[in-house]
Formats: sequence, structure tokens, C-alpha cells
Amino acid sequence: MALVVLSVYVDGSSQGNPGLAGIGVVACDEKGQVVATRQRPLPSATNNEAEYQAVLEGLRLARELGASEVIVFSDSELVVRQLQGAYQVRSEGLKGLWREAKALMRQFRRCEIRHIPREQNAQANRLAQQASDLASFRPRAVKIAPSILSADFRRLGEVVRELTEGGADWVHFDVMDGHFVPNISFGLPVIEALRPETSLPFDVHLMIAEPERYVDAFVKAGADIVAVHVEATAHLHRLVARIKELGAKASVALNPATPAEWIRPILPFLDVVLVMTVDPGFAGQKFLPFVLDKVRTVRRWMDEQGLTAELEVDGGVTAANAADCVAAGATVLVSASGIFQSGLPIPDAIEALRQAVKKVTGDGTEKEGEPPSEGCRCG
Ligand code: DX5
Ligand code: ZN
Repeated sequence: MALVVLSVYVDGSSQGNPGLAGIGVVACDEKGQVVATRQRPLPSATNNEAEYQAVLEGLRLARELGASEVIVFSDSELVVRQLQGAYQVRSEGLKGLWREAKALMRQFRRCEIRHIPREQNAQANRLAQQASDLASFRPRAVKIAPSILSADFRRLGEVVRELTEGGADWVHFDVMDGHFVPNISFGLPVIEALRPETSLPFDVHLMIAEPERYVDAFVKAGADIVAVHVEATAHLHRLVARIKELGAKASVALNPATPAEWIRPILPFLDVVLVMTVDPGFAGQKFLPFVLDKVRTVRRWMDEQGLTAELEVDGGVTAANAADCVAAGATVLVSASGIFQSGLPIPDAIEALRQAVKKVTGDGTEKEGEPPSEGCRCG
């Protein structure tokens, strides 16, 4: 192969996981087409060690791909300058890694190490972030909660039965009032009418102002889990207590721009934390990846306190990002258009989400051609 360009990225210990790093490698051909990707969690490494490991991983992948010429991009200027010979390697810990990299570099007819700013390296960044999540990942059962918001409303009874047979864990209901969110969907009578159709838990997401006025009625209509927005009520603890008193599970939802801190004091009282990954109001919106940092934060708090609440993500969740969500700590995936607009029969769409999630617990290697790749922006 004439030239393979590899971009390498390491993400250190952003979300309070000091010492953990993730390596993401994206290999592209001369045309910028992604040829292969690789990711690897790296427990207990210093930043510079991790950067060297990332370059090594990139060089190894290039060898495996049979490249004769290679350019490896790293976001660490220090590592780049050291490998270019412009800076000396002083630290004993790095000398071995430097030698290893140099030895690998000599195996190519031509090999260059260049610098790339982190933000210009989106795909490798994403792989590295996921790998870093995996370094602290503990496998947990993942539930699929299809939202009927994108289903055919003419035949909701059938839809709910299909979801039941198709392997859904919960049925998610998006109740909108045209006030808290700029859209009106459906309310109590729909939930009540569908209740006899399945024994699956009804996960009722209230995107309504003053939810305290309606929780009794929604539990009576058949809600098993009632989610209220932290932005929509002044007395969150009282409302959570009321939901539980009614015999339902209490869930609190946060909009994308709402800080995790808003639910921190109440976390031990919750059965579910619902992190919105789009601004609520409509199905079919684009997933907001920045919200995954909030998922990581809530996951860390829950693990530190030994809390077993479910951590649910809602909005724009598809087979393409389900693994990112689970790696960040989510245990429930809500999906409306990802299921009902996928073009697949309901059981297959649910299965596709489950398969996507398995990647997190698999060998950590993404196979060639999946997930759908953006081009290499490094060449
Ligand atoms: C957004 C709702 C979501 C929505 C998800 O306002 O809370 O549950 O239906 O739809 P998709 O999965 O299409 O983003
Ligand atoms: Zn929802």
C-alpha cells in the first residue's frame, strides 16, 4: 500500500477517572477513506505514556494493514517533537516507549509523525472516549424502551403488542403539553386505553408544566414509571415522594443544558434518571453527543454511592450511538424514530440496538466498515 494515514488520539482522565485513558485509531487511505479503526482502553497510564501508546497502536495497525508508507498523527506536541528528534526524551518511563516507536517506524519505507489538534480529529476522539469509558466499565443489563411517539397512531394497540412480542423491555410514552415543550402529543386516555394490551412496564415521560398536578392521574391510568422534568417543578423531593407513595417508580428527567448537579441531592431517592440527549418536544432529532459527559458524571455518582437506579438516555438514540451511551453508563435506551422509522420490522429494530450495545462488552475492536464512518480529516 502506497500510503496509509493514521490518526491517533488519546483522551486522558476528563470525567474524574484519573489515570484512565482511551486510544482511538483511524486508518485512512490516500483518498481519506477509512480503512480500519481500532480502540483500546488503557488503565493507569500517565498522559504522555498514553500518547506514546496511541502512536504505537497506530504504527502497529499500519503494519498489520501492510502499509509501506505512513503518517501518524498525534495530538501530543511533546511526543511528536520527541519522535521527530527535535526534543530529547528525559523521562526514564518514556525512553522505552520512544525506542519501541522508533523501532516500529524504521519498518516502513517512509514514516512521518505529525501533530494534529484534538478537535480536528472527531472520529478518533469518539473512539478514544468510548475506549476510556470502557476502562472503567462494569457490564450492566441494558433495557430497550421504544417510544411510541413515532409509531402509527392509527394502530397503537397493535404496536404495543408488537413491541411486547418483539422484545421491548419498557414502553416509553412521551406526554407533551404545548407549554413545557412546543408540541402536544397525547395524554391520559391513550395510556389508559393501551394498558390492557401488555404487561410491559409503562415508562411515562411527562414533558408538562406543573407535573405535580397530574402524577396521581397518570399512575391511575397505568404508568409504572413516572418521569418528571427537574426544570418543570419547584418541589422535586415532594413530587418524587408522591410518585413513590402512589406505588410507581420515580424518574427525573434533565434537559441537555441542565447540569447534573440539579439532581445530585435527590439521586438516592430516584428509581430512574432520565438524561435527555435532544431538546425535548419532537421525535427524530439529532443526538447531542456533549450530553454523554453528563451521563458519565451521573454514572460516577451512582457508582460511588452504590445506587442501582436505572440511567436512561432519550433522544436521537440509534444503533450508531447506542454503544457510546452504554459505555458512558446508560442502562436504558429510549428510541422512537430509531425503531419506528428504521425501515426494519420492530423485533429486528430492537435486536439491532441490542447488537450495537454488545460491541461495548465485546473485544473492543470495531470491524472494518462499521460504524458508518466519517472521512479522515487528518490528511
Ligand atoms: C423527545 C422525547 C423522546 C423522543 C425520542 O421529546 O422525549 O422520547 O420521542 O424520539 P427519537 O428517538 O426519534 O429521538
Ligand atoms: Zn421521552
